[in-house]
Amino acid sequence: MIAIDGPAGAGKSTVGRALADRLGIGYLDTGAMYRAMTFAALQRGVVEGDLDEVAAMAPTVDLVLEGGRVLVDGADATAAIRGREVTEAVSQVSANPAVRDVLVQRQRDWVVEHHGGVVEGRDIGTVVFPDAQLKLYITASARVRAERRVRDIGGDVDEVEASILKRDRVDSSRAHSPLTESDDAIIVDTTGMSIDEVVTHVLEQLA
Ligand code: DC
Repeated sequence: MIAIDGPAGAGKSTVGRALADRLGIGYLDTGAMYRAMTFAALQRGVVEGDLDEVAAMAPTVDLVLEGGRVLVDGADATAAIRGREVTEAVSQVSANPAVRDVLVQRQRDWVVEHHGGVVEGRDIGTVVFPDAQLKLYITASARVRAERRVRDIGGDVDEVEASILKRDRVDSSRAHSPLTESDDAIIVDTTGMSIDEVVTHVLEQLA
């Protein structure tokens, strides 16, 4: 299996999907799983900062990720998990160790069921699959990451950059499985590259 990690907006999902398509294997976006848990917390009125309440909720949430859609407790949350409310709360929920335990187990089960695949997130090469066949750490400057987000979903570039930097800080400094590059990861800086160039570069690493 191939592990892809890196900060928000670096191009991990686009590259991961393209890579999975080219190789004819499955693709798992673990950020979507953390977003779905956050959606569930907001939906159920669970306070994101309440460690115990979120921990008690995590194992009871029914998540389905299929064909690009995300179902949370049977309801379609595909669009809502990308919204502002979820995006602002997700670092808090994903810092909860009980949430991580539940989702890491589901990620490992997914890989067994799919006989491998491309798995993308923050701790995939470091914690979830330390024995991955290929580990990529995809990054880009904060400014470029913000510009890409604005191109995709709109907004003010300065505000988006500030929000990205804040999320990077929380994701990299949390006690449990912080965002960090694995020693054996190939670092790909996509700042001046197109997606096609990145995919070609990565496929060369596999050859
Ligand atoms: O990739 P993304 O922006 O959709 O991820 C949403 C959040 O989920 C991100 O701020 C950090 C968290 N996350 C995580 O902690 N571990 C992962 N493996 C994937 C995402």
